[in-house]
Amino acid sequence: MELGAGLEALDPKSIKRSLLVEVKGVPLVSSMAEEWGSLWGFKARPDDLLICTYPKAGTTWIQEIVDMVQHGGDPQKCARGPTHERMPFIDVFLPKPIPSGIDQAEAMPSPRMLKTHLPIQLIPPSFWEQNCKVIYVARNVKDNMVSYFHFHRIGSLLPEPGNWDQFLENFIAGKVAWGSWFDHVRGWWEAKDQHPILYLFYEDMKEDPAREIRKVAQFLGVPLPDPLVSQIVQHTTFESMKANPMTNYSTLPSFLLDQSVSPFMRKGTVGDWKDHFTVAQSEHLDEVCAQELAGSGLSFRMQL
Ligand code: A3P
Repeated sequence: MELGAGLEALDPKSIKRSLLVEVKGVPLVSSMAEEWGSLWGFKARPDDLLICTYPKAGTTWIQEIVDMVQHGGDPQKCARGPTHERMPFIDVFLPKPIPSGIDQAEAMPSPRMLKTHLPIQLIPPSFWEQNCKVIYVARNVKDNMVSYFHFHRIGSLLPEPGNWDQFLENFIAGKVAWGSWFDHVRGWWEAKDQHPILYLFYEDMKEDPAREIRKVAQFLGVPLPDPLVSQIVQHTTFESMKANPMTNYSTLPSFLLDQSVSPFMRKGTVGDWKDHFTVAQSEHLDEVCAQELAGSGLSFRMQL
């Protein structure tokens, strides 16, 4: 099921900045909260692969890696459609007549690859009942936050971000869509030994993409000879993905994603936060992070 036809029929004026509404204590964009029943009742299939991240942690990157691994490193096969059509984003409910992520997923033959940003406690129970594999990617809080700030500026369905200082305050308080970054990364980390979850870090993927691609292939049970690993590394560099219309979200209209304000494929680095945070803001976030992640065994690299 393609989005194209629905998008053409959509009136750009019907697109409005969303309010946040809490579901089980987690702020979600209002369309998700309204459709919560259908999301919670989502019917996973045993061979579904779920790709999960906090927003802006490198979702699109891992999606392209996974698709390449699943298709023998063949870029043609991965060009069969833009990311959001190859892997339905089950959390998304755009105005009708655009099919929801759930509609897209239901129309898709197995095996499916699905995307979500849900924190662990909001994952539809059928994913656990079916023992589905999950790949989770976490990114250090500062770069993650910077990326989310810029994404709010271009994503017309998210709430207004306000200025940097206001966004920082809301982000630390968990008053942003999909809730607290701390709860998200920690919740998934603590679940990873009870379920088939591969927990990856953006910083590790930047440091040694070939190593992380091998982890993905091993987790998925796909044999991957070295030349294919190199091919996947090349195909999924920031530069390749920025130039690729199937991965750079350029197929979405600007009234949904205004890339003239800030490109979706923006910087793709570790440490861009240094150009955004004051010293005091950075130190404060370090303290909050230390408190929130205390005792979890989870640690992040802020630079490579
Ligand atoms: P920046 O805004 O810091 O550039 P998501 O896909 O979860 O929305 O995450 C988007 C972030 O991942 C953006 O971060 C984007 O540039 C970065 N990204 C996407 N593809 C990447 C790649 N191949 N290599 C490195 N970073 C990538």
